[in-house]
Amino acid sequence: MTKQTIDFDQNPPVAGSEYDNMAPLVLPGYEAMHQMTLACLQANLPADANILVVGAGTGMELVKFGKGNSKWQILGVDPSEKMLTIAQEKIQQHNLSEQVKLFQGYTDDLADTSIYDAATSILVMHFIPDDGGKLAFLQSIAQRMKSSSAFILVDVFGEKGTDDFQQIISIIKEFWQERGIPEAKQIELLETMEQGVYPISETRVLELLQQAGFSKVIRFYTGLWVGGWMALK
Ligand SMILES: C[S@@+](CC[C@H](N)C(=O)[O-])C[C@H]1O[C@@H](n2cnc3c(N)ncnc32)[C@H](O)[C@@H]1O
Repeated sequence: MTKQTIDFDQNPPVAGSEYDNMAPLVLPGYEAMHQMTLACLQANLPADANILVVGAGTGMELVKFGKGNSKWQILGVDPSEKMLTIAQEKIQQHNLSEQVKLFQGYTDDLADTSIYDAATSILVMHFIPDDGGKLAFLQSIAQRMKSSSAFILVDVFGEKGTDDFQQIISIIKEFWQERGIPEAKQIELLETMEQGVYPISETRVLELLQQAGFSKVIRFYTGLWVGGWMALK
């Protein structure tokens, strides 16, 4: 159940080669959300922390965290070979090979030991349906974290079909228009949202975090339909 439903190798919402150009245009506050995630980690982690980055993609947060603290050890996990190939190039460009390692696969595939001082999931869980899959995804991460460690979750959130969500969509369309996203691409993105993204209300986010064993949740980020929460295990 923790497996992705959108495959970033076979049928990506944005091709891996386009991801780094498109993500900052399409996702409200893309760079800010990573910057703020780093600040959350810096405020909570020891100098020599061991960090699990779930859904590392093309390596945006791997590079940010690696440069944020040269003593942190970081493992980026992702099932997509294409996304990780780009991440690997970036790791080398930034001379972070000693500090940042990659694993192609899922959190479930990692050793079942609680060794991480922090974990992050940025723009990943919204691809998993709320049919037990989201909870299993969170539990699998929690299981590998030390007690009192920090977890960062960043996801598109909200309840499809509600007036509030419809309102957010109309704002997003204006946001995309302002950023020069062509009409055809906007339609494609909204179709992906309709068919392959499973946002949930903030109430449900908090409930799932609690069921997975997290507490003391704070929301540290909101960018239109993207929310960011920090919780402690
Ligand atoms: C939208 S990208 C986000 C990448 C990066 N975190 C960022 O902020 O740009 C989502 C990534 O999550 C990966 N993914 C999808 N399902 C996953 C799962 N169940 N576990 C780990 N990674 C997953 C995809 O392969 C993809 O690289």
